[in-house]
Amino acid sequence: MGGKPRQRVADGRPIIVALPKGRVLEQSVELFRRAGYRLGPVLRESRRLVHECGELRVLVVRGGDVPTYVEYGAADIGVAGRDVLEEEGRDLYEPVDLGIGACRMVVAEPAARPVDLASHIHLRVATKYPTITRRYLEERGVAAEIIKLGGSIELGPLTGLADRIVDLVETGETMRQNGLVEVETILEVTSRLVVNRAALKLRGAPLTELIRRLGAASEAPVL
Ligand code: PRP
Repeated sequence: MGGKPRQRVADGRPIIVALPKGRVLEQSVELFRRAGYRLGPVLRESRRLVHECGELRVLVVRGGDVPTYVEYGAADIGVAGRDVLEEEGRDLYEPVDLGIGACRMVVAEPAARPVDLASHIHLRVATKYPTITRRYLEERGVAAEIIKLGGSIELGPLTGLADRIVDLVETGETMRQNGLVEVETILEVTSRLVVNRAALKLRGAPLTELIRRLGAASEAPVL
């Protein structure tokens, strides 16, 4: 027989899925269940980071790290929020908006200390998302110093560290309890399925089936 030998998956390993720890984990497990994949051990053994779930091996990672695992091929597929995808800007195939983990990325400031952009000399903005924040500020033509924090961003204005924040809002409760008000929404966020491009070629059949079933289970429009 002539021509190139067909690529084969020689290792016979399961499909590796990276899921984000935290509030989207439970919604992801439920979505996979509706798609016919049982990931029960992921929620039962909360300290374990690798779970063998039949045809899938699940890695539980920091939400912001999902695109990294998938781009480098340490995971074939993952669930990542639009916030981390925009921030990381990685080269991934994004076939489905899963519709889970819905929230908004907003600019906020203390209700008691609103920023007057016209007279503000040195604006400081605290955020976990410096790239998105820089892009937003540039689009608005606003000069500001961006202060990167790892979490509890709402503390920034309360302590005088920053004048404003860029952060996620789900129910709005954290903002309310910390005396902050929204200035503007800059991104509507949901979680998407992300796929490693090489894995899609190497493991085309099982990955395509996984994508199809998750797309149907999410009832969200295929991107
Ligand atoms: C997120 C976000 C807000 C909060 C919003 O933080 O950064 O702080 O949730 O939720 P709410 O509008 O329903 O109150 P998370 O709990 O993920 O932790 P973090 O602050 O450490 O990032």
